Amino acid sequence: VDELQAEFAQRYRLFDDAVARGAALFGADWLAAFDDTLDRLFPDPVELAAAAKGYASFAMDILRRQRRFDQERAYPAKTFEEAAAEVYLDAGYMASEYLPGLLLSHFLWPHHYHQGRFFESAYVEQMRVAGGTSFVEVAAGTGMYSRRLLQLIPEASGRGFDLSPAVKAFVDHHMAAYGLNGRYRLELQDATTAVIAPTDWLVCVELLEHLEDPAGLLASLRAVLRPGGKAFITAAINAPNADHIYLYRDPQEVIDQLYGAGFGLQQAFIGPAFVPRSLGVPVPTVAAFVVS
Ligand SMILES: C[S@@+](CC[C@H](N)C(=O)[O-])C[C@H]1O[C@@H](n2cnc3c(N)ncnc32)[C@H](O)[C@@H]1O
Repeated sequence: VDELQAEFAQRYRLFDDAVARGAALFGADWLAAFDDTLDRLFPDPVELAAAAKGYASFAMDILRRQRRFDQERAYPAKTFEEAAAEVYLDAGYMASEYLPGLLLSHFLWPHHYHQGRFFESAYVEQMRVAGGTSFVEVAAGTGMYSRRLLQLIPEASGRGFDLSPAVKAFVDHHMAAYGLNGRYRLELQDATTAVIAPTDWLVCVELLEHLEDPAGLLASLRAVLRPGGKAFITAAINAPNADHIYLYRDPQEVIDQLYGAGFGLQQAFIGPAFVPRSLGVPVPTVAAFVVS
């Protein structure tokens, strides 16, 4: 973390206070978990410098898009196919910016970090107490959520789905760095068409806003969740990333879609990225739900 801080201080001054802010807000556990993640995934100083650069580009791009969104209050029109070509299937961009950017954001963005803690306390703990040993994650991305679950439940094994070949390489490396690759397999498949075997434990973090028909995906996720099973499902609200094509303006819209798909709501976490300067300004927000 000190090395990352030095990179920010030297090269990416806009993010100079991000590490100190995280440490002040979340303390020793945050620092230890972040340090461990950086150490295992980017052990070489050159790799860590590249990750810092990737994060800076990723975060700057989102800030620029946010300014435009504040004016237009809409995402630029984009089909799923266009988003896939521009983002998920661009191996260089995924490996150098998107995946390191997203990974670091799980620690550096307080609302992302809170969402991860909510996942652990509200969902993984429930799975552990219930004796759950297998799970599915749809749109595994960085692999962060699957990795935490596997660490917290040593008996568990999982299957991940994602359509990006760069994600497969990143997740395979991530799991290997933690000695977890024997307990996890990532399959390269489109979640909207994949045949997923019924499961009791299902994780889907920040996929809905990437789809043209998130309600359709929710209906198919509901169909693969066994009776009594639990799912952890999240969505990004008012967050104009390059690959967000379905605009949720309010967490209630996600709740309505969850009910519409037949899920029952058990617990919720709504985390805005910041406190707005004035009322009515849209704030990027994560909305996370434990559903059955
Ligand atoms: C914001 S990331 C997900 C974050 C991830 N859960 C994490 O915590 O790192 C979105 C991911 O969804 C994947 N994705 C987008 N559309 C998909 C689809 N139709 N099927 C499978 N994966 C998809 C992308 O490749 C990307 O990895």
